[in-house]
Amino acid sequence: MLKFNGEIFTMERFLEGKGALITGGASGFGKGVAFEYAKRGADLVLVDINENMLEETSKLIETETKQKVIPITCDVSQANQVKKMSKQAFEELDNIFILFNNAGIGPGYGKDILKVDEKIWNSTIDVNLKGQWLVSKFICRNMRKQSFEPLAGKVIHTSSDMGMVVDITVPVYCISKAGIITLMQLLAKTLAPKIAVNAISPGYHVTGIYANSEETMVKTMKIGNVKTPLNRVGTVEDIVNIALFLASSASNFITGHNFVIDGGIVEVGVPANYLKTDF
Ligand SMILES: NC(=O)c1ccc[n+]([C@@H]2O[C@H](COP(=O)([O-])OP(=O)(O)OC[C@H]3O[C@@H](n4cnc5c(N)ncnc54)[C@H](O)[C@@H]3O)[C@@H](O)[C@H]2O)c1
Repeated sequence: MLKFNGEIFTMERFLEGKGALITGGASGFGKGVAFEYAKRGADLVLVDINENMLEETSKLIETETKQKVIPITCDVSQANQVKKMSKQAFEELDNIFILFNNAGIGPGYGKDILKVDEKIWNSTIDVNLKGQWLVSKFICRNMRKQSFEPLAGKVIHTSSDMGMVVDITVPVYCISKAGIITLMQLLAKTLAPKIAVNAISPGYHVTGIYANSEETMVKTMKIGNVKTPLNRVGTVEDIVNIALFLASSASNFITGHNFVIDGGIVEVGVPANYLKTDF
């Protein structure tokens, strides 16, 4: 049930009895979304490569919300680890209604596509693109068999503005995030009508990917000549709000869609990032 509470709509405990699996759950968007899903009654599996941060986040959410929070350390780019993690996740929770497929890295800043190292290409594509494919592959096989109606489950992939408006200072990141939009569309068609699959594309939000520093992020935006039409930087809360909507029944007729949450950078058409190269 949607309830109006002050400035925003809250959906109190609409996830009671539902399980949510969140990758990259130790930090940033994953942590923020995990907290809010748990507050609405979801039990959680949090997946991350950073074991210490994962333990800390899981304990914090469990203590504050009294929901079940299962931490599973896993590198999402490794098929054997993802397979094992998925098996454990379905043993720990009796359902996974929501998959927030979100873990990602943003390495290799400052080199254009002609200069980028093969190592950066491999690690970025492996974590950001192959990782989300592997997690959906192993989780959705069981998710589609669940008996929830009208949808057996919901998947949210994390892409980026940079999957649509390229930033030549992070070329492989852009390619990985453009790939996520195609992956999401393929999964939406493949898994219909049982599972709704959508993507979110954040703009510039202060998280671990910017060392949790607004200064670092704003510097990056200045170098790239990025201006936000709504004239502020993004927050984790901006992403939490769309993740709540996509987990709720209010979005039940939406699949295959990429939600751009960036204060208007892509949609209003602020110039794409550029880098002055030496040729
Ligand atoms: N912050 C932004 O402005 C922004 C913009 C667009 C897209 N994104 C995307 O949002 C997603 C979440 O990032 P964030 O901004 O919250 O940053 P973050 O660094 O705070 O969170 C990312 C999490 O993913 C985990 N992770 C990294 N590699 C992993 C692996 N191989 N296996 C499992 N976990 C791994 C990290 O340990 C970390 O906890 C990423 O996909 C990122 O590309 C972020």
